[in-house]
This record gives sequence, structure tokens and C-alpha cells, in this order.
Amino acid sequence: MLVAGLNPHSGEAGIFGNEEKLEIAPAVEDVRGMGIPVSGPYPADALFHKAYKGEFDIVVCMYHDQGLIPLKMIAFDKGVNMTVGLPFVRTSPDHGTAYDIAWKGIADPSSLIEAIKTRCLTRRQITIMKLFDPISFAGVSLKNRMVRSATYEKRADVDGFVTDSLIDLYKDLTQGGVGLIITGNALVHPSGRSVPQAICIHNDHYIDRLRDLTDAVHRLSGTISIQLSHGGRQCFPSLLGGAQPMGAFCGIRPFDKDHSTGNGRR
Ligand SMILES: Cc1cc2nc3c(=O)[nH]c(=O)nc-3n(C[C@H](O)[C@H](O)[C@H](O)COP(=O)(O)O)c2cc1C
Repeated sequence: MLVAGLNPHSGEAGIFGNEEKLEIAPAVEDVRGMGIPVSGPYPADALFHKAYKGEFDIVVCMYHDQGLIPLKMIAFDKGVNMTVGLPFVRTSPDHGTAYDIAWKGIADPSSLIEAIKTRCLTRRQITIMKLFDPISFAGVSLKNRMVRSATYEKRADVDGFVTDSLIDLYKDLTQGGVGLIITGNALVHPSGRSVPQAICIHNDHYIDRLRDLTDAVHRLSGTISIQLSHGGRQCFPSLLGGAQPMGAFCGIRPFDKDHSTGNGRR
């Protein structure tokens, strides 16, 4: 990114003006200090030719005509005006209102079409940028917005304990960049098993392995949340040791004394 000078030939070392030395060069240095690859000020007369040849991407101009004369020479029909720094994307054609030819059916819509296309493109890019932006909500901070939706992995052991294979899978996903993993259905009650080898959380003796899982994800700066689940009438007697499934109308009471955890917690 190069910055043009204000005065002819960028002031010619102060002979034609000193805004370059006093204002522009220090500002460029400040911005460089923020890690933005920019240099200048340079004489504007040669700058645009280099940009046109593709030697760099952006010219920062000091005033309207300095930038628009070269742009309109090469892309009168395709130039697009875009305002940056707004909370939304704003583009417009790079020419004026052309009232003199309004309603005559002779106006060229190319620049307007380009403006709309640029807006659509930029909106997509902004959406993608947001996908990788951190987000905080309800007391949870995520490093990005990529979420692994709740997916039953069939990787718990037959008793519902987390296995190394499940830990490895969630580690892989976290290393791959996923910001939040939601586990597959974790049973809150033995009668809620609708699938084999789902993880369980209905008893304290599951805690240690669940902690191994969360620790492994946290060590990789990931976030993991558990999906609590009861299969209800989707369960099968074959998965329940022959017992009949219990749906919402069967009056299951998970806080009965029988279902307290080992240390008495309900
Ligand atoms: C193999 C598999 C297992 C799934 N397990 C669960 C689950 O345990 N809990 C749940 O709410 N959804 C589960 N789902 C549904 C997913 O969370 C998700 O809603 C679904 O796959 C649709 O999203 P997609 O279009 O991104 O795949 C599962 C989906 C698949 C393919």
C-alpha cells in the first residue's frame, strides 16, 4: 500500500510545501508501527502507473481528483465507490448522478452493476471473516464461530465411559480449528439410551473420563459443551436390558432417591 504526496512531486523535499514532511510521513510511520504494510509519501505522478502495472494493491490519495483522474482514465465504466469503516457495506457507482441524461434511456449502467457486484462480494467476504472472529455470549468465549453440531459418535465404551478414541476425535477437531464442539447425546438417565455406545453423565463415576475429555480440548484452546439427552420413546428394549422405553408421558422422575449420584448429589 503506497501513499501519495499532497504537493507537486511530493513537495520536492520541502521546496513546494512541507505537508509531506510534517504530516504525511509521520502518519505513514504510525500506521507502519501498527503492522500495516504501507510506505510513502511518493510523488503521485509516477505512482498510479506502478499500481496499474500491478506492483502493489492500494494507493492512498490526498484528495478527490488526485485519485479519480487516473481511475476514470482506465475504468470509467467499472469504477466503484466504497465507504470503509462503516458497520455495513456501502458501495455506489463511481460517477455522478448524471441528471442531464436521466430518463433518456441512454445512461450506461455498468458502474452501478459493478457497485452491486462489489457489494455482494464484500458482504460474502465479511461473513467469512466473521466466521473466524471470536465471539462471547452467555458467559462463554469462543475463539471463532465454527461449531461442531451435536453428533453421536458411537465412541463411548459399552458402559458409557469416554474412550481414548473419542478424546482423539475431539482433539483432532479442535486442532483443525473448530471453536466449539458439542458432544453427541450424553445420557442423563440409564433409561434414556436410544443408541449404543453413547456417553453417559448420570452418575459421578463418569466424571473422571469426562474431565479427561474436556481437559484435552481445553489444552488445545478449544471449547466443549455437552448435549444432555434422554432418548424417550425412541429407545428400544434391546438397548435397555429388556425394559420398556419411557417417554415423556411415563412420568420418569430422575430426581428420585434411586437416581441420586454416588455422593448423594441429585
Ligand atoms: C452421525 C450423526 C450423529 C448425530 N448425532 C446427534 C446427536 O447426538 N444429537 C443431536 O442433537 N443431533 C445429532 N445429529 C444431528 C446433527 O447435530 C446436525 O443437526 C445434523 O447433522 C444437521 O446438520 P448438518 O446439515 O450440518 O449435517 C447427528 C447427525 C449425524 C449425521
